[in-house]
Amino acid sequence: MTDSVTRPAHPVLDCRNVVRRFREGASTLEVLRGVNLTVQPAERLAIIGSSGSGKTTLLQIMGGLDEPSEGEVLVNGEPMHGTDESAKGDLRNRYIGFVYQFHHLLPEFTAEENVAMPLLIRRESKAEALQSARALLDRVGLGERLTHKPGELSGGERQRAAVARALITRPQLVLADEPTGNLDSGNGEHVLRLMLELNQELQTSLVIVTHDHSIAKRMDRIFVLEDGVLRQSV
Ligand SMILES: Nc1ncnc2c1ncn2[C@@H]1O[C@H](COP(=O)(O)OP(=O)(O)O)[C@@H](O)[C@H]1O
Ligand SMILES: [Mg+2]
Repeated sequence: MTDSVTRPAHPVLDCRNVVRRFREGASTLEVLRGVNLTVQPAERLAIIGSSGSGKTTLLQIMGGLDEPSEGEVLVNGEPMHGTDESAKGDLRNRYIGFVYQFHHLLPEFTAEENVAMPLLIRRESKAEALQSARALLDRVGLGERLTHKPGELSGGERQRAAVARALITRPQLVLADEPTGNLDSGNGEHVLRLMLELNQELQTSLVIVTHDHSIAKRMDRIFVLEDGVLRQSV
């Protein structure tokens, strides 16, 4: 695959002093206490941290699915927050692909329809969207499962379909929240290898949340989220 997309000079993602508090009755839980992170084009990095340290919260804020209490997130130089929902949705659709621990495929749609969905949201024609979806599903080894619904796929197959859905728009940034956390080691390795290969081919940046150090070590940089701040691990 060749990369015909022009990459601008901005970092793909820029988190500036991101704070997130949750109100718990009378008290306030400060989960993120000033997170700073810059992700460059095609860079791959891991965020590790113990359960409850705020990894999912941070990823949701990076992707515009949650709002920071303070600070800002720039995607490709554009502010993610403070815009209305439709502008945010548009920014997400243009630049970001998500892979979750649980596949989040729509159960009533086939694999090819699920993967085509982000293109349909972009108002591509159904014929073209499905054609692209079939090509990418073939690429992730699901060429024989195009019209299967998620319930008719194995866990590993569902996660490979979810990776295809995240990459179908050739996003500049993929955010992955423990994408192999729900798979056995063989399937986990297959999914991870696919993500790394596709990211390389499409020159997509990758932020992967994991508590698996062997996965983290395969990324360009490793960060640890602890006490609400992100530190680069040496
Ligand atoms: N919507 C919410 N309301 C209140 N507390 C929350 C909410 N989301 C997350 N938290 C709390 O924030 C902390 C971090 O959660 P999370 O980001 O899911 O951690 P991780 O993904 O690292 O396990 C936890 O203590 C969790 O209970
Ligand atoms: Mg989590």
